[in-house]
Amino acid sequence: MISTQIQTAAYLFAGILFILSLGGLSSQESAKRGVYYGIIGMFIAIVSTILGKDVNGHIYIVVAIAIASVIGIVVARKVQMTAMPQLVAILHSFVGLAAVLVGFGSYMDPHTLALSDSERTIHLVEVFIGVFIGAITFTGSIVAWGKLDGKIRSKPLLYPGRHIVNIILVIISIILGVLFTMAPGTDGMLYLYIMTAIAAFIGVMLVMAIGGADMPVVVSMLNSYSGWAAAAAGFMLGNDLLIITGALVGSSGAILSIIMCEAMNRSFLSVIFGGFGDAPVATSEEIEGEVTSTTHEEVAEMLKEAENIVIVPGYGMAVAKAQYPIHDLVENLQKEGKKVTFGIHPVAGRLPGHMNVLLAEANVSYDIVLEMDEVNEFMDDVDVVMVIGANDIVNPGALTDPSSPIYGMPVIEVWRAKKVIVMKRSMATGYAGVQNPLFFKENTDMLYGDAKDSVNKLLSEM
Ligand code: TAP
Repeated sequence: MISTQIQTAAYLFAGILFILSLGGLSSQESAKRGVYYGIIGMFIAIVSTILGKDVNGHIYIVVAIAIASVIGIVVARKVQMTAMPQLVAILHSFVGLAAVLVGFGSYMDPHTLALSDSERTIHLVEVFIGVFIGAITFTGSIVAWGKLDGKIRSKPLLYPGRHIVNIILVIISIILGVLFTMAPGTDGMLYLYIMTAIAAFIGVMLVMAIGGADMPVVVSMLNSYSGWAAAAAGFMLGNDLLIITGALVGSSGAILSIIMCEAMNRSFLSVIFGGFGDAPVATSEEIEGEVTSTTHEEVAEMLKEAENIVIVPGYGMAVAKAQYPIHDLVENLQKEGKKVTFGIHPVAGRLPGHMNVLLAEANVSYDIVLEMDEVNEFMDDVDVVMVIGANDIVNPGALTDPSSPIYGMPVIEVWRAKKVIVMKRSMATGYAGVQNPLFFKENTDMLYGDAKDSVNKLLSEM
């Protein structure tokens, strides 16, 4: 058992560690340090909570933590890098469910019944809002998991009048909230049940209405919701650290969502409300030109001649785990005095920072990994661009075809380089399901095959 003062001090220390952790994660060099701060902060948070004065049944808590830790370790070790977004989405659903359960538990807690009138009203408002956000996060995250895992169609489900329906449901929830806070004892349970069902329905419909290229924003938005759900649980439990942590996650998730919307040239509101305003219809404009393919020998020759080379990796690099041979290829090219840089699109892959993580894993030096705007600046001077397993993020239709679902999203303008080599297995479309006019351009050649095999072949050719 520890005193309340020691617990408060421990919470404060853990809160500082969480802030340092977020700060650390903002750059690749300090990311590892940031993760360690987070682990230590979480350890202190859990231990000081368990040792708190109102906590009983330690044996059950320890057993539950042990079981959950084993599950967590097994899942984290098994999960493929390509399945990470689904894992993140399903973990968000647990936070939502936890907030709902804490809300119900807190409502039935005898301490709540013993509160004075005004304190009780404030507490019931916290419970109601916490359960509302938690239920939306819970079901929304499950739908997001289904969409990312291919179990639910990614295409947005847009039915007429859906915004009106959502607004009416929110108004009904507010009325239920008023009735709930006025009900004596635990008589408001029915209102809480009905509101939970409504919020769960809103969560499903909100995420069902979002799809295609907007899915990355959904993941970070649900991350934000899970933070607010945790903060709400913190208010219900009177736990300062949970409030701080929830607010950190909530606000950082919201900031990330806004940054990603800017990267995709989408309005934040239009994304979170699911295609508010215009929903583009994929009619795909007539593509002119012919597709030409090339061989590993020819590409190896081209690379030998080139001075300035840019590599644009995408989701296919993650699938093929091609980052390791790519690292070796880059080293070879650099030894021959060539300038090699990577161009990273903000939504390349299936996870914010997906490409950066993979390249860091393969020890690619950070200073040659540039952002989209940086490589676009000098694209006209580039001799060869190697597009490795990327598709949507290099689609010129995003700039020229108003009927494309990705219209308006800034892309890496690889076609401005002298030569473009696209390394993928077929002519298949990318995540957004649209054909790519880049493949038909005169200065583009397709190098078909698995990205890892192709890079290995290039390495042996060179
Ligand atoms: P995509 O547009 O999905 O294209 C990936 C391409 O990789 C596919 O066309 C595929 O073509 C190829 N590929 C797959 N496996 C391969 C392999 N083993 N070897 C070689 N190529 C392989 O990827 P992108 O360009 O990175 O764009 C990302 C898309 O995902 C965007 O639409 C984005 O909005 C969306 N999204 C992003 C996120 C985040 S946060 N980054 C989250 C969810 C969705 P083949 O089948 O012909 O090989």
